[in-house]
Amino acid sequence: MKKKIAVLPGDGIGLEVVKAATTVLDKTAELFGHQFEYQYGDIGGHSIDKHNDPLPQETIDTCLKSDGVLLGAVGGPKWDNLPGGIRPEQGLLGIRKALQLFANLRPVTGHESLTEASTLKKEVVDGVDLVIVRELTGGLYFGEPKERREIDGEEGAVDSLIYKKSEIERIVRQAFEMAKVRRKKLTSVDKANVLETSRLWRETVEEMKQDYPEVEVEHMLVDNASMQLIRDPKQFDVMVTENTFGDILSDAASMLTGSLGMLPSASIGSEAPGLYEPVHGSAPDIEGQGKANPLAAIASAAMMLKYSFHMHEEADAIDTAISEVLNAGYRTGDIAQNNDNILSTEEMTTKVVEAIKK
Ligand code: NAD
Ligand code: IPM
Ligand code: MN
Repeated sequence: MKKKIAVLPGDGIGLEVVKAATTVLDKTAELFGHQFEYQYGDIGGHSIDKHNDPLPQETIDTCLKSDGVLLGAVGGPKWDNLPGGIRPEQGLLGIRKALQLFANLRPVTGHESLTEASTLKKEVVDGVDLVIVRELTGGLYFGEPKERREIDGEEGAVDSLIYKKSEIERIVRQAFEMAKVRRKKLTSVDKANVLETSRLWRETVEEMKQDYPEVEVEHMLVDNASMQLIRDPKQFDVMVTENTFGDILSDAASMLTGSLGMLPSASIGSEAPGLYEPVHGSAPDIEGQGKANPLAAIASAAMMLKYSFHMHEEADAIDTAISEVLNAGYRTGDIAQNNDNILSTEEMTTKVVEAIKK
């Protein structure tokens, strides 16, 4: 099959891990007889430097014409205090909105050989297998007004937490569909004891559960959910939650796998191509040093093969290669137990490439 992939490396380690992901995709294409054609686009801080715009129209067009989008990460200290409030992150939020990618799937899958890498006890994390379904185009991130304004005669700021019922319905449906083909348990995470949007969210989940009698539904307040994720993560199958809560919970959940550098994600909508990116950011503290763990980006590429191209065998081949490499003891610094034989981003990528088999 021939597929067009829009590649948006972005900033910092985004460039390094995207290179790793395309290298693995090249090997997969070669083995399985596909052609992946990459079209590169600017996004984030580099794009501000080049075009004074974190998301040029040309990048949006490249994505719209593609069969799937692979993204690295955006942001960095260089662009944190630019005049006019322009920020790299607006590029990422903008592309999610432009492609209407309302559902962000963040699987948290423990690898047996990595349980030692987690800061939590082995028996707590061993066998963790959950998915956080994060709403991605609404809530606090996008609600208007969002501005600086005078409040009670002093400097203030406003962000607006807004959800329409239809926005809640479509993400909750996605989560139910996912739970149906997994272990049939859905935990809806909210703050219904305080927030009106959460009360609407909870009501909507209650209405929709009639359509999914086979799925067990529970509601959990987000503060408790963050504690339960650390206390006993194996109680969870699918968790569905709004934008901000999902952002925070998924970074916390990444440590169940040993590192933020292990967590992939897929952002999908109804029409436009899906976008695939690691959950982590541009990691300015390790950028340019070959220290980045490429596995989150590589696993994100595998998610693209599965969800956008329906290449299940190929996606499985990549996931199996990742497991084999980990089982064989190969480690980047973030998941290593000691400082012996730490692999660079490129060396780790080569190990995965060598392990892929048809
Ligand atoms: P971060 O995710 O970039 O890094 C957090 C910590 O995790 C750092 O210590 C980093 O070194 C480590 N880490 C992250 N990915 C790693 C990997 N693949 N391998 C090894 N270690 C890894 O979060 P931050 O430091 O809070 O943010 C840095 C910048 O990234 C900010 O500008 C932020 O806005 C941006 N950001 C972007 C995205 C994205 O593009 N999707 C996500 C999160 C943060
Ligand atoms: C993520 C990131 C982004 C988010 C930022 C960079 C806008 O943290 O993808 O998790 O908050 O969605
Ligand atoms: Mn985040």
